[in-house]
Amino acid sequence: MKRIIYLILITGIFASSCNNGQNPESKTKEKESSMSIKKEPFGKVDNKEVFLYILKNENGMVVKITNYGGIVTSILAPDKIGKFDDVVLGYDNLNGYLKETPYFGAIVGRYGNRIAKGSFTIDGKKYSLAINNGPNSLHGGIKGFDKVVWDAEKFETKDGVGIKLHYLSKDNEEGYPGNLDVYVTYTLSNENELKINYLATTDQPTPVNLTHHSYFNLAGTSGRDILGQTLFIDADKYTVVDENLIPIGELRDVTGSPMDFRKPTSVGGRINDVEGGYDHNYVLNNNGQIAKVAELFDSVSGRLMDVSTTEPGMQFYSGNFLDGSITGKKGIVYNKHFGLCLETQHFPDSPNHPEFPNVILKPGENYTQTTVYKFGVK
Ligand code: BGC
Repeated sequence: MKRIIYLILITGIFASSCNNGQNPESKTKEKESSMSIKKEPFGKVDNKEVFLYILKNENGMVVKITNYGGIVTSILAPDKIGKFDDVVLGYDNLNGYLKETPYFGAIVGRYGNRIAKGSFTIDGKKYSLAINNGPNSLHGGIKGFDKVVWDAEKFETKDGVGIKLHYLSKDNEEGYPGNLDVYVTYTLSNENELKINYLATTDQPTPVNLTHHSYFNLAGTSGRDILGQTLFIDADKYTVVDENLIPIGELRDVTGSPMDFRKPTSVGGRINDVEGGYDHNYVLNNNGQIAKVAELFDSVSGRLMDVSTTEPGMQFYSGNFLDGSITGKKGIVYNKHFGLCLETQHFPDSPNHPEFPNVILKPGENYTQTTVYKFGVK
């Protein structure tokens, strides 16, 4: 009898020391149940309802995405003392995005960045795209993927919450050949990652280069620009461009130049030595495999963001064309260098550069790309 009582006591003490008095299963459930996804009306475009999806993970991180342009309107990330702040530029309401936007937070396509003179040839046939940037076609043309309403479906898994967006880009839209069926999945994981998976198929050969255009500022809404933030880019080379920002074909070594970010360096440290500021495509050292290619760090707040991607290139754009004419969320004026973009992509104007990695998608093939923006503190 004594032995039985002793055993019961020992088992009880052991069990309670393992879970601090809580059933481990209920603890997991409690964490999971703190993840959520809400859908709110956000307005109407092209006679279609537009919604704002509010994703929250179990650490309290919040990402807001609208199915208009697949735009990420807000990312609330914690600083080193756990204070959340919005680390992307944008507007408080849909109207802002409809009136004027330099692609804040959007999905960019069918072709991210520039195609020279909006012209390219596939199998001997010449195509002419909508021109919207000097003599060139930029970010998919006049009405790119950033300005259309996507179908959206929300989902929740044990690791995160997200939305799956779908858009069918019709043959000849903005001058591009073929019906392109596109899926973009945003997932906010419990590891504080915003993951973006892209998938596209076509019924005619067509150039495809999808990317994401958030303007990040890890200082949040404190009023500081991005010049004091530290950037690392794992790239030995970049594509040299002409005066219209079209690659001339040369991949230039970054060594000894203000383009070298292989050691974390402040964005503003050498920016005045780069004409117009940074707006360049880096040739990433990832060999087409998903790998960390960049890190942005703000030492004041302690916020950190890692970028991983499958893509061969990344456009580092230091918000050079922001000029104070836009007033964004919370009435903040977006002055020059108030946000920066790290757009993972194929090289600009690849359809006219057979020596660059291929961007022509053919019927029967899948275009895929994955990019992860992971938030942390240091
Ligand atoms: C381009 C810039 C352009 C900006 C549009 C970036 O991806 O590289 O040249 O001005 O997008 O806001």
